[in-house]
Formats: sequence, structure tokens, C-alpha cells
Amino acid sequence: MSDKKAANQMWGGRFADAPDALMEKINASIGYDQRFYTQDIAGSKAHAKMLEKCGIITADDAAKIDQGLDTISREIAAGEFDFKPALEDIHMNIEARLKEVIGEAAGRLHTGRSRNDQVALDFKLYIRDRVDGLIEQISALMEVTAKKAELYADYVMPGFTHLQVAQPVTFGHHLLAYVEMWARDKSRFEDARKRMNVSPLGAAALAGTSFPIDRHMTAEALGFDGPAANSLDAVADRDFVMETLAAASITAIHLSRLAEEMVIWSTSQFSFIKMSDRFSTGSSIMPQKRNPDAAELIRGKPGRIIGALTAIMIVMKGLPMTYAKDMQEDKEMTFDALDNLELSLAAMGGMIDDITALRDNMEAAAASGFSTATDLADWCVRVLNMPFRDAHHVTGSIVAIAEKKDLRIDELTLAEMQTVEPRITDEIFDVLSVQNSVKSRTSFGGTAPELVKKSAQAWLAALK
Ligand code: ARG
Repeated sequence: MSDKKAANQMWGGRFADAPDALMEKINASIGYDQRFYTQDIAGSKAHAKMLEKCGIITADDAAKIDQGLDTISREIAAGEFDFKPALEDIHMNIEARLKEVIGEAAGRLHTGRSRNDQVALDFKLYIRDRVDGLIEQISALMEVTAKKAELYADYVMPGFTHLQVAQPVTFGHHLLAYVEMWARDKSRFEDARKRMNVSPLGAAALAGTSFPIDRHMTAEALGFDGPAANSLDAVADRDFVMETLAAASITAIHLSRLAEEMVIWSTSQFSFIKMSDRFSTGSSIMPQKRNPDAAELIRGKPGRIIGALTAIMIVMKGLPMTYAKDMQEDKEMTFDALDNLELSLAAMGGMIDDITALRDNMEAAAASGFSTATDLADWCVRVLNMPFRDAHHVTGSIVAIAEKKDLRIDELTLAEMQTVEPRITDEIFDVLSVQNSVKSRTSFGGTAPELVKKSAQAWLAALK
């Protein structure tokens, strides 16, 4: 029996001609949907068991189907399965093979179901598994980062706005900002997972079925909270793909922001960090070079990940109820996006784990750019009881003097400062050091090293 004939036999007698070669090529998804064969088999096993329990197929047929599916599972895992494009997709490839393995009983498996609910089920189970994996990975990344934050809780570095030195912060605080982002990313995946966790199986082609199936039973067997309530929605819905890719895109964006900072920090101009050899490359022509390639690639990955989100949104937009073959385009870019997010998370974890902060360079940079000007203004408010706007003005004038003389503010003499505001005393020098500046930032969520340390420890405890 040729593959082409096999394909047509799936449709029964109505198709006289074999499909055009181009039709086969454009139609087949087996090249990529074989990735969820495990989920397809799990779904079929749950379905067969339910059919038996509901008296729709015999116990004998159910047992044959179950064993046959086990055999196929082993064949695919061992790389011994012959995937046939003429059989279009994973569903028909497995069903056709099941017929070869167990004979006629195979034909009873597809009772009360269709490829429409089957593919929705398989892809959802697959995405759910991937989401679980990503959640675990994000937790691991948060833990590595929180550990580094604890280690570097009192390393002073410049905090930036507009990439201009703004105020001193600690490196630990900076790292914990990313832990917060990843905590939100994680909760977005958890949230998407909750919403997707209803089973499409048994919605059949679109309308439900006349067989007395038990959708609650299959839903429970497959770890769902219950069956999807509307059969049309069940086969037409790809929100779970869009939501997952939206969460993936935001996560990738966060990773890319840190990656970009690592690129900047590891330049010879900044020299805030040293990245390990393990995540750097050399240059074929410039022997002195250490390039942060892994960071740059993580910075670049959102291109394809956001691309996948855009792709699925455009595929789904304007599609009438219910299933349409357009929806087969939901898979390849999603696989690619999830693979690349997984890779990015792993690489970022490794890079952070390996990173060495160069304390002196960070601290020297933190003192540049008049970074403690706000501390001076705050002192005037606190000690001289000035309105903040006036204190801002005084400070601006003092900064102007320092700038003209090419000095830091704390290198000015008291007399020089007093030309602007005579009530300033030499107490002012206590607040002008970057160390004292960060220590004073004790408001909730502030950068004071003791708070950073506590916050890092709280994260580590929570992630245990
Ligand atoms: N390979 C198809 C897909 O990925 C499976 C569903 C096909 N259903 C159909 N009615 N042609 O979407």
C-alpha cells in the first residue's frame, strides 16, 4: 500500500485521486508535530480507557489499543518509527501504525473524537509541560541571582537613569531588580497555566458527539481541572499559545535588558564585571578580545520570540469559528520560541553564576557624575529645614562650581560650598561619600545594604 493511498483511505471512498505532491508538502505537519507524540499517545490512552468505561468499546479492544500505543511510544522513542508525510500529521501517523500493530481495533480509537479536539489537546498538553519547565527554570535563575545579590549586597555601583550616573546603589540591589521581574514572569506563566488547564478532548470536530462519552473522566486523567465548557471554543481556542508566548516575550525582554547591561558592564570602559571564559569568545584576529557572545545572543533572542507571538496573533486574527487549517501554523514558531527561551534562561543562569563584580571600579564610577548631589540636597532639607526645591537649587549651584573646577562634590572645600549656602557645616562631608549615601537609603525597597541583604535572603528562603 503506497503512502498516498494510505492517506486517502483515511477519508474513505470519496477521494479518487492521490493528492498533488505540492498539496502533500503544504499540508503535512508531521515534520514538526512529531514533537508532541508523547502527549498524543497520553491523550489516546485516556480516551480509549474512557471509551471502554462508558461501554463504547470492548475491554478487549481497549487493552489492545493501550498495548499498541505503548509499542508505538517505544518505537518513536527509539527512533524506529517511520514518519510518513503522506499521513500528514502525528495523529494519523500513529493511528495508521496502530492499525498495523493491532489490526482492526485501531479504527475504534477515533470514536467520539476528531483531529480538531485531538490537536488542541496535544498542543495544550505540550505547552503545559513546557510552561512547567520554564517555571522551574525561572525559579532556578532567581535563586542564582539572589545568591549573587546577597554576596554583592554592599558593592556600591552607580545607579543610572538615561544611562547617566544618577545615584549610588548597590550591585546586589540591581540584581534583585531582575529577581522581581522574573518573579512576575513566573507568575504570568503560572497564571496562563491555570487558565489553559481545561480539556478540549471530546469536543470532537466542533459540535460534541452523540456517543455517551465522559469528558470529565478524560480531563481528570490528563491532569486538567475539567473539560472545556463549549465544544466550539474547545477546538477553536489557541489563547494558551498566545498567552504563553506573551509571557515568554516579556521574560525574553527582561533577559535581554540584563544581557545588554552585562555587555556594557564588561567593556573596558566600564569594567564593572568580569564574565567567565565559559560564556565569552575570543576573536580570530584580535588576540586581546573577550566578547560577551552569550549575552549578545540573549539580547538578540527576543527577535524570534516576539516574532512567534506576533505570528500566532496574526494567524488567529479574524479566523471564523471553529478550526481552520491556518491553525496548523501555530506550532513551528512556538517550538522555536520556547526552545530559545529555555536556552536563554539556562545561559543567563550560567553567566550570572560565573560573574565576578569588580568592586573598586564600580565604586569609583559610583562617585562620578556628582552622584551624591541628592544627598547634599536632602541634608539641607533635613538639617537646615530648607524646602526641597530650594535645596535643589543650592545643590545645583555647588555642582556647577565642582564641574567648573573638574572636581567631585566631596573634593570641594567647605568654604567653597559656603559661598552658595553659608549655613552648610562640615557635617556635610558625612553624606557625600557613596558608602554613606547607599547606607542612608533605608526606605522600604531602598538600596541600603542591610535591606538588600535581607531581601536577598528572603528570596532565597522563598525559593527553597
Ligand atoms: N495537523 C493538524 C493541525 O496541526 C491537525 C488537525 C487537523 N484537522 C483537520 N480538520 N484537518 O492543525
